[in-house]
Amino acid sequence: MRQNKGVLLYRKARKIIPGGTQLLSKRPEMFLPVGWPAYYSRCKGISVWDLDNRKYLDFTIAGVGACTLGYGDPDVDAAVKNAVKRGNMCTLNAPEEVELAELLCDIHPWAGMARYARTGGEAMAVAVRIIRAYSGKAIVLFCGYHGWSDWYISANLAGSSTLDGQLLPGLEPAGIPRGLAGTAVPFKYNELENFESLVDKFDNKIAGVIMEPVRSSWPVDGFLEGIRKITEKKNIPLVFDEVTSGLRMNSGGIHLKLGVKPDLAVFAKALGNGYPMAAVIGKAKIMSSAQKTFISSTYWTDRIGPSAALATLKKHKKLKAGGHLVEIGTMVQQGWKDLGNKYGLKIHISGIPPLSHWQIAAPDSQLAHTAIAGEMLKKGFLTSKSFYSTYAHKASDVHRYLDALDGTLRELSPYIKSSSVRKVYPFPAAHTGFKRLV
Ligand SMILES: Cc1ncc(COP(=O)(O)O)c(C=O)c1O
Repeated sequence: MRQNKGVLLYRKARKIIPGGTQLLSKRPEMFLPVGWPAYYSRCKGISVWDLDNRKYLDFTIAGVGACTLGYGDPDVDAAVKNAVKRGNMCTLNAPEEVELAELLCDIHPWAGMARYARTGGEAMAVAVRIIRAYSGKAIVLFCGYHGWSDWYISANLAGSSTLDGQLLPGLEPAGIPRGLAGTAVPFKYNELENFESLVDKFDNKIAGVIMEPVRSSWPVDGFLEGIRKITEKKNIPLVFDEVTSGLRMNSGGIHLKLGVKPDLAVFAKALGNGYPMAAVIGKAKIMSSAQKTFISSTYWTDRIGPSAALATLKKHKKLKAGGHLVEIGTMVQQGWKDLGNKYGLKIHISGIPPLSHWQIAAPDSQLAHTAIAGEMLKKGFLTSKSFYSTYAHKASDVHRYLDALDGTLRELSPYIKSSSVRKVYPFPAAHTGFKRLV
């Protein structure tokens, strides 16, 4: 197992691809530094086959949150095949772009216009450009993670700990021009006073506010409402980054459930259920500022992206997929809780049910979770500290997963409790974040 074809290919990849992969969260070191299969030959529903044709059930993060309907959804795939059949790229435009703009604005009636990109980071950069063009100002107040772009990472020019507490601690801002220092300033989620003090401090220099409406915890009463009230009063555009929260609990932005309307909202990841697609939607008076600047890219015009998004949104809505994602995520969270009680482990659970995380509170917690991933892999499951539910996860899959986890914790919990996991798992612990990029 430890010498599977994926392990060997990843060894080769690291020599010719810096970092080995294109996304930090897909690096094997993030899951299981020794033995993770790393590559897939095919995937369908929640099943993944590695390069040795071993099959696993995926209880990790569903293509890093991209596939809420499951891998290779037949209806989305059919729409994509149809786009390919009729030609994916052309000098003329894909009419699906217009239908998608209408559908997105139908789902989010506060919005009047849409622009597209293909990834979350790109779309967030587009949104930031639009609000800066609209306001003529530079400073962005933000909260949470928003991608790899200069506008965001520049926050760490003020000190490499600025992004600590924004999901990604310890990131050096190498390669970001010093001139951007002070243009992106973080605030703390659920701390309205912290936000208010920054608005007071930067007042008429603020281009906009960028935040995820929900991430690892639900907003406390008055937090989002307070931000909305202040931004409205001061005419500061409020942008909800729904790249990860969108299409989780409902078939659109999670803000619709929270009853707070932004000025712009950004979608990616789940929007195309595995096909690259991202959208920035917003109020026409702000979105029109896209015309004051240059926002344009060849492959933002392909037909597959909007075709996949239309098929995804329509199916998601028809099936009320968000309800299923919540149900499955809730079952898994409850299962973690029950197993913690059964084996006397303290477990911290966070996240909305479709984006669930668990963490065993123990001195060598990270090694324990790595050992668990190793055992679960042997039993035919891809697992991690995070679980993103999909429409393809059935209750029976969750039972199988929790049974396997039960057996794993039965074996490992005595070692976890006595801080001696290394005795049974003498391998490196999984990496935890940007602290270890190399
Ligand atoms: C909230 C949020 N914004 C932006 C991004 C960046 O999206 P992408 O990885 O598609 O560039 C992510 C990715 O995890 C995200 O979770």
